[in-house]
Amino acid sequence: MNKHLLSIEDLSKSDAIQILDTAEEIARISDGPVKKLPTLRGRTIVNLFFEDSTRTRISFEAAAKRLSADVINFSAKGSSLSKGESLKDTALTLQAMGADAVVIRHGSSGAPARLADQSWMKGSVINAGDGTHEHPSQALLDSFTLRRHLRDSAGDLSGIKVAIVGDILHSRVARSNVLLLKKLGAEVTLVAPHTLLPFGIDQWPVNISYDFDDVLPHVDAVMMLRVQRERMSELFFPSEREYSRGFGLTKERLDRMPKGAVVMHPGPMNRGLEISAEAADAVNSVIVEQVTNGVTVRMAILYLLLGGMSA
Ligand code: NCD
Repeated sequence: MNKHLLSIEDLSKSDAIQILDTAEEIARISDGPVKKLPTLRGRTIVNLFFEDSTRTRISFEAAAKRLSADVINFSAKGSSLSKGESLKDTALTLQAMGADAVVIRHGSSGAPARLADQSWMKGSVINAGDGTHEHPSQALLDSFTLRRHLRDSAGDLSGIKVAIVGDILHSRVARSNVLLLKKLGAEVTLVAPHTLLPFGIDQWPVNISYDFDDVLPHVDAVMMLRVQRERMSELFFPSEREYSRGFGLTKERLDRMPKGAVVMHPGPMNRGLEISAEAADAVNSVIVEQVTNGVTVRMAILYLLLGGMSA
């Protein structure tokens, strides 16, 4: 495996399966009485978050701590970053503090790659979401969750039908998921209004549909995406009601899902907009499991990137 995790594009299919299999091993150990592993004792992992985050930051922190690493949380608000310090100076500071890995979330697509490329830092760089580009650890935890439910926790996802629904345009989760699901052999359909599909979408290896009801009876999983209002400077749909009527996972749509098909959402959810409360809390919703699996998969990522290197 590569030293960094910047994008799904950099992973081979066997790298991806190795991460999922390692996470499965870790899950088995975590089910036992001892939750904490000594693997990364003495190593320092920095969470560098330039954008707001709850679950991703906490998830990486929990993952690092369960591997016995020391964790430094560094958020842009209240630090010199808000005084305009450059990414370079921040990286040099982290390097001077002996960071073995930096988990970075940034509003600009490509910021993690920049950190990794410029050799400002010796350690591993892990992309925890950059602009509208990628969010590789989210895609890995989503495939891990799908594999557990639909493939008995082993192998790839060949033949599985996944619909990714909603604000594809602003979603790094959708991008990483398309790349990973295709790598693992799944069939992906994107469902969204025209206005929320990115330019050049016809080049993506996916089916496109504007009709959720048409796609729904054929899915093994629906991945609902948050409507990312904070990235919207113009009007992308007439009203929230219209949006929910066309693209929301309502109670009625939930009832029409095939038996055994699962509901997913990366969080945070806009309940009542892209997903109804009934769907979010349904028996076939795996949204809470995605959060639990996030810690396990991030432990696997940290273990594989850092575990092999000596302190
Ligand atoms: C996603 C993100 O930040 O890209 N959330 C997450 O990491 N759990 C999706 C989103 O914000 O809608």
